[in-house]
Amino acid sequence: MNSVSDLVARYQKEFPRSARLYERAVSAIAGGITHDSRFFTPFPIAVERTQGAWKWDVDGRRLVDYWMGHGSLLLGHAYPAVVEAVSAQASRGTHYGASHELEVEWAEIIIDALPAADLVRFVNSGSEATQLALRLARSYTNRSRSLKFSGHFHGWHDEAAAGGGNPSAPGSAGITEATEAGTILVPAGDVGVVEQALQQHDVAAVLVEPSGGGWGAVPLAGEFLRELARVCKQHGTLLIFDEVATGFRVHYGGAQTLHGIQPDLTCLAKIMAGGLPGGAVAGRRDVMELLAFHPDKPGWDKEHKVAHFGTFNANPLSAAAGIAALRAIRECKAIDVANRLCEQLIAALNDVLRQKGICAFAYGQSSMFHIAFGVDPAVIRKQVAGGEGLSSMPAQLQDQLIQAAKGPETQTVRRAMLLEGVDLMRTGGFLSSAHTTADLEYTVAAFKRALEHLAAAGELARLI
Ligand SMILES: Cc1ncc(COP(=O)(O)O)c(C=O)c1O
Repeated sequence: MNSVSDLVARYQKEFPRSARLYERAVSAIAGGITHDSRFFTPFPIAVERTQGAWKWDVDGRRLVDYWMGHGSLLLGHAYPAVVEAVSAQASRGTHYGASHELEVEWAEIIIDALPAADLVRFVNSGSEATQLALRLARSYTNRSRSLKFSGHFHGWHDEAAAGGGNPSAPGSAGITEATEAGTILVPAGDVGVVEQALQQHDVAAVLVEPSGGGWGAVPLAGEFLRELARVCKQHGTLLIFDEVATGFRVHYGGAQTLHGIQPDLTCLAKIMAGGLPGGAVAGRRDVMELLAFHPDKPGWDKEHKVAHFGTFNANPLSAAAGIAALRAIRECKAIDVANRLCEQLIAALNDVLRQKGICAFAYGQSSMFHIAFGVDPAVIRKQVAGGEGLSSMPAQLQDQLIQAAKGPETQTVRRAMLLEGVDLMRTGGFLSSAHTTADLEYTVAAFKRALEHLAAAGELARLI
């Protein structure tokens, strides 16, 4: 019979170069990793190269990849048009220290795609985008507080991490009491709670992941988003859609197009930069104009301006990759392909869980999927059969999904899947248009074997 330590021992034996690299990493890199979500025991895998839907680790093992560049690679790894654009640009220069045509073209593509984008400002990441959007909102409203939702992730800077809203990024040491006090955290889905908070406090901005928090882990109804827009408007609070994960994924025009909502500001990153570092804030002209210099405007001085710098904003390499990726996504219907594959994968994973009698269920939105271990599928079926769908589930069920996203299976199931040739992002991941039905079959067969090993090790006892 297997035991947990057998699976850990097998992992250590089968990923020896990753183990050695990690030993080196811990004496050179703080914590041995460069992103907290890559923390993994006994050590994380190290990857050498990627192609399409696959990654190869430093031991030469081939793995189906569901991290997909933390969701930035809708077209898969090393998509030819992106590789070509980046290579051609690298030889022309990686940084001009000046304005350039590619940044204008990139901004125009974003404005064309997003209904709520009059103007764009580029940054380097999703965290920078939410940081800039919040600063713009504070300046525009002359208020200091922001409101966000449990289970929603907006990056690692102080305001994003304050309140510890997300299961995978539960707050942080080193955040000032003033920032904590200025960040209101409420459960998602109940507009009454938001309205109450907006009545009690002057709130500059409501920041929301419009797909549901943590790339869809906590599904959200379109109706809630529409109501959010209404109450924000009523209270003079800006509505910020954090479309870092949903932009160019749930729809070419983002969640705002899907639900027909015009947020005041939109945060973008990931897919928009074609797998290179990049991000943007896009939004209403009068808010975005706070970033502009108006030396000829009577009464204007620099104190009215929202400051924004950044050595690598809209660098030519990211701009070239972003333009190539966005064009391809539009032309090759990548969103539809990835969505269809995700639906197939979710159905197949649920079949396996049902056959094995495991208390867990797979679900997702668009091309993002999650497996919630420890959540009773019968309760979920009842919720869906009631015609209400997951997006209007009760707070208690929402909380169960948030808890499931940080359960022990994020390590045990992922480790067992790695041993079977699949790299899940925690207990879920992102599909791309490069995945194939054969990749899904491979994944489902791996899932069956992984669950069998885990069951034999007694690791699924709480779920059977
Ligand atoms: C919705 C959302 N917002 C913000 C971020 C932060 O983006 P970045 O990691 O580029 O700073 C992420 C990253 O996963 C995200 O999913």
